[in-house]
Amino acid sequence: MSILVSSWSKNVQSVPENYVFPEGRRPGDITAPVCNNIPVIDLAQEGGLDHDEMIHQIMRGSKDFGLFQVINHGVPEELMDDTMSLFKEFFDMPAEDKAAYYSEDMSKSFRLYTSGMNYLKDQVNSWKDSVIHQSCHPLDDNIQSWPEKPRRYREVVGAYSVEVKKLTARILDMICEGLGIELGYFGDELSEKHALVVNHLPPCPDPSLVQGVRRHTDPNLLTLLQQEVYGLQIFHEGKWVGVEPIPHAFVINISDQLQTISNGKLKSPQHRAVTNANIARTSLVTFITPSFESIIEPAKVLVSESDPQLFKPSPCMKYISSYIAMVDNRKGREDPELPKLCD
Ligand code: OGA
Ligand code: NI
Repeated sequence: MSILVSSWSKNVQSVPENYVFPEGRRPGDITAPVCNNIPVIDLAQEGGLDHDEMIHQIMRGSKDFGLFQVINHGVPEELMDDTMSLFKEFFDMPAEDKAAYYSEDMSKSFRLYTSGMNYLKDQVNSWKDSVIHQSCHPLDDNIQSWPEKPRRYREVVGAYSVEVKKLTARILDMICEGLGIELGYFGDELSEKHALVVNHLPPCPDPSLVQGVRRHTDPNLLTLLQQEVYGLQIFHEGKWVGVEPIPHAFVINISDQLQTISNGKLKSPQHRAVTNANIARTSLVTFITPSFESIIEPAKVLVSESDPQLFKPSPCMKYISSYIAMVDNRKGREDPELPKLCD
């Protein structure tokens, strides 16, 4: 039997033992209500918010929650729908078709995997299958490693990543404006890497026993997420709150390296994704990351006598490797190692 959850879970009525988390490490509030204070920002040029109000809302979301949503953002809705449908079709393919793409080798530029980053290393498995495209840019150098099934995979996912890249540049510049750092600060090196992960959480007979995407903060610069089914939650003021699935919105998540560059003004939120009993949930997650050699430190203009530097300079790779070490070896510890604070 395939180890992919999407391949066997239709045939089970209860959760297999190796997916049941011990009491105390179960997800708890899996139906936490959505939080209505998380800003939803209309990026339409006309008829939307005025520019200053947009920047204000972006800062409010990034400071208070580490997260905001954008609508009318320029990524065509039809393309978002096509991409979502394509990945649902991918995870619904017969087990034999999916098996061809499965790998535990983390260095592969494309792979299908299950549970955490490596099924075999997880003490308890997560109720999740994922695909990763390590690099979507430049497209021509990478697309050859992507699947050819379902038909149009490369075309659709390629177009999606080009559009999301444009949106990323726009959002990063608005964040520059809000922080008062020069426009273009995140261009080139600090936003060089663009990866796409798709998480698929099949319906689960008892969501209270399992973990979908376990609690973490993202170790990169900025994350853009598309979801259409409830599941994403952030840990806010001591409790889990839901992030409302809004059709055709992107959830914008401030990640650890942006928290550092902003000298802690913006926050990288703890978040996770929970499963549902009756419905599969697929989320498309774009991770924007600096080049691994970049030194990540607070922007000089954000440090002063009254705003002392909170984080030590350290290479981007350190953030990524400490995250991987955490996911690879976690033995019950849910909290990632946060970037090093200054002593
Ligand atoms: C992630 C993540 C949440 C989701 O992949 O880092 O937080 O809803 N995913 O898939
Ligand atoms: Ni995440």
